[in-house]
Amino acid sequence: MGSQDNPSIHSNVQSELLARARAAANQAYVPYSEFPVGAAVLAADGSVHTGCNIENASYGLTICAERVAATSAVSSGHREIVAVAVSAPKVPRTTPCGACRQFLNEFRPVTSEMMIILDDRGSGELVRLDELLPEAFGPRNLDAASHGEVSSVPRREIDGG
Ligand code: THU
Repeated sequence: MGSQDNPSIHSNVQSELLARARAAANQAYVPYSEFPVGAAVLAADGSVHTGCNIENASYGLTICAERVAATSAVSSGHREIVAVAVSAPKVPRTTPCGACRQFLNEFRPVTSEMMIILDDRGSGELVRLDELLPEAFGPRNLDAASHGEVSSVPRREIDGG
């Protein structure tokens, strides 16, 4: 992962996001898994929105840190997410689960990547959401359907253009 050319994030911003994700993990409500996670979302306007995982006695209603952070961003009016830092104090390089990858993809900017910053216990490891969720189904697929395109994968992604 991360071997291709990735759009870079200014190192100060990356450090700040990682610090905010680590701090958010302290608020995790994890009586069942005892696996705290924190996330910090960077919106296109530079604002930062954090979240932690919140578990539930029913287990299935557990919400991951990434989705809590993304819902916080969206519910305060920020629908374009350019980067997300994820930190799990017990396991370095914890990546977003499949459900969170799909959820985050909804808010990927149209003209740029969404970067995920993994907590490697150092300055952070950058990966593109696109690497974690290749050929994702998202809002653009529905746009394609309403314009009568046949393929479920937008043509520009097949062509790489
Ligand atoms: N979890 C997250 O919050 N984010 C991840 O990236 C991985 C998993 C949570 C869900 C659950 O509360 C706990 O970690 C164990 O799966």
